[in-house]
Amino acid sequence: MITGKCESVPQPIVTDVFITDELDRRAPKKTDYLQEKLALQDIAARMADQPEEVLPRFVDLALEMTGGVSAGLSLYEEEPAPGVFRWQYLRGQLSPFNGATTPRDFSPCGITLDRNAPVLSAHPERVYGWIAEANIVVPEVLLVPLYLGGRVPLGTLWIVSDREGHFDSGHARAVTELAAFVGIALRMVRSEERLKLSLDAQAKTASATLRNSEEQFRLLVQGVTDYSMYLLGLDGRVATWNEGARRIKGYEPEEIIGQHFSRFYTEEDRQNGEPERALATAMREGRFEKEGLRVRKNGEKFWANVIIDALRNDDGQIIAFAKITRDITEQREARAALDRTRETLFHSQKMEAVGQLTGGIAHDFNNLLTAVIGSLEIAERRVSDASVKRLIGNAMRGAQRGAALTQRMLVFARRHELDSRPVDIPTLVRGMSEMLERSLGPSVFIETRFPLQLPWIKTDPNQLEMALLNLMVNARDAMPQGGPIIVAARSETIGAGQRLRPGSYVCLSIADSGEGMDDDVLARATDPFFTTKEVGKGTGLGLPMVHGLAQESGGALVLKSQRGKGTTAELWFPVAEKTPIETSVNEVAARPATIPGKLTILVVDDDPLVLTNMVAMLEDSGHIVHEASSAHEALAILGRESEIELVLTDQAMPQMTGAELIDEIKSRWPKLPVILATGFAELPPHIDPFQQVTLAKPFLQYDLQRAVSAALEDPKTRRVVRFRGRG
Ligand SMILES: Nc1ncnc2c1ncn2[C@@H]1O[C@H](COP(=O)(O)OP(=O)(O)OP(=O)(O)O)[C@@H](O)[C@H]1O
Ligand SMILES: [Mg+2]
Repeated sequence: MITGKCESVPQPIVTDVFITDELDRRAPKKTDYLQEKLALQDIAARMADQPEEVLPRFVDLALEMTGGVSAGLSLYEEEPAPGVFRWQYLRGQLSPFNGATTPRDFSPCGITLDRNAPVLSAHPERVYGWIAEANIVVPEVLLVPLYLGGRVPLGTLWIVSDREGHFDSGHARAVTELAAFVGIALRMVRSEERLKLSLDAQAKTASATLRNSEEQFRLLVQGVTDYSMYLLGLDGRVATWNEGARRIKGYEPEEIIGQHFSRFYTEEDRQNGEPERALATAMREGRFEKEGLRVRKNGEKFWANVIIDALRNDDGQIIAFAKITRDITEQREARAALDRTRETLFHSQKMEAVGQLTGGIAHDFNNLLTAVIGSLEIAERRVSDASVKRLIGNAMRGAQRGAALTQRMLVFARRHELDSRPVDIPTLVRGMSEMLERSLGPSVFIETRFPLQLPWIKTDPNQLEMALLNLMVNARDAMPQGGPIIVAARSETIGAGQRLRPGSYVCLSIADSGEGMDDDVLARATDPFFTTKEVGKGTGLGLPMVHGLAQESGGALVLKSQRGKGTTAELWFPVAEKTPIETSVNEVAARPATIPGKLTILVVDDDPLVLTNMVAMLEDSGHIVHEASSAHEALAILGRESEIELVLTDQAMPQMTGAELIDEIKSRWPKLPVILATGFAELPPHIDPFQQVTLAKPFLQYDLQRAVSAALEDPKTRRVVRFRGRG
């Protein structure tokens, strides 16, 4: 109000109306200001600590020093309204006008600053109507300029007296001195204010920055989609929800905020108090971390890595929990797949090693048995003593059982070359019935379930018989009380992306209702030498052999079993593409041997035992035999001895194999027949078993004779032709 009034007084002020130059002419009445100076010192001493508080004290002192009735400061303001004085720290009768403003121009204050010296004003109320209106009479005012250090004008310090002629030059000097202190105090107040302002501004900027970074952080958390991040209250209720949480758990923020977080747990975990335990751990230890199953809104379960962190305020009190959840389902699946692959790799490497070892042993063993069986056979014929004959027969049966075992080992070790041919399963199984009855005993009975039409498969029929025999013996052993063994077959088509190559297959299955296998036994059942049977009752080579046969035939063995529920072994074989029209060597071999008469034969084998045995067998049949212990030696003999009509060679020999020898013979003596004796090494790929006569080790004299006839037979006429005169 007052402000309005004083600013609304725009009358021109005539200087001489209220400014008098009398001051200098009035001699000082008082010269000693000792008391006042002491008071000034006292006030100034407190200035540094409380500049704001000492300012009114200075005004009071000015009153005391001059004996005025009212005093105050008119401080020049640039801001907010330039050229205006504001009345401050007013004392005495004019105090109600504290805070009023007066324009600089023509005011006694302005004149004081312009003159830069103390000024005496008389009756300013005659110019300022508003002072008059307040019924205040101002007979005389003494004004001194206030400066800052660098002579920057600040305003004036003024004192009003209640009578004309009161102030003298002594007052003016004393107040000017005081004004210097007021100036300093004002400067301090202002710089403090500025400092406060700048601190305020800084604080404001800082809090704006903080707000800004908080906002950015919130946006970041909000936008993260790979992690579910949210806050939980101490009661476990959801307080915030980010995009990741929405994506992973499926809830919209409005449907989940305020809900208890236990709803993300499985029913079982909830019952077990998992959610409460998690919060209690985070509360106690500051953090909880675990992997576990969680449930999405749609009920789907997923594997989650969960971290709950306790959040504390500045006093260290826990005020909330931060919860971070990661969906690790894919990661876990990948890890499990990797583990499985590693295990499979390890297993196959182990099998490979065992296979090599077994194959190596079986190879040597097979050669030994060839010699034993061959020699026993010849010896048996040469003795007439019945008791010796019986002993030899016994030794022969032992050797033959050893040979059967070697066969298994060789098939398992994939060292036995398969004599693969189209096979009709029902015919083969029926053909085995007598042998099965004998081997299995009366406790079990075999039931066959074959469709009317079943494609032929391609495999080695002899090996398949051995495989079926083992599977049925296993089935019988699993049913001590007896029961049915169901042998069934069905045709199947395998598409892309399966374990087997796409194509047509026949699945031959042998099922029993016996004791079955637990997971552990099932996993190891096809491992070589794994058996749960008593010592001496099982070799643990049965299933490995079946597995080896199925794989070598391009199929697979699948075992399905449950403890107490029985076992089904499925053998998958590829369907035979075509039945060969040409007569196979094996068919020839199946017919009785045509005895070709006396021949000159070259026998090649690096093993002296086998060599001696073969020579003995052939000589026993009446042939003339030449021996060679290597392919090179054989070639030398062939070059020398032109009467040789047939070569019988071993396949596995150092430096030059039997197959390589055959190639050489074919190029040099194309018409010379050769028999390849094998047993452990795979047939080289370029040797066609339908063209090349082979002899599987170990063999009897009869087998050898049949091979000799087959080798001499003309494939077209099937008549034995004698080969003479190689030239
Ligand atoms: N039909 C089945 N029911 C229950 N367990 C079986 C069956 N077939 C195989 N097994 C288990 O698998 C193991 C390995 O079988 P595998 O045929 O390889 O060797 P084996 O039968 O023990 O010995 P062998 O075949 O030399 O007589 C058996 O010892 C048995 O524990
Ligand atoms: Mg077995």
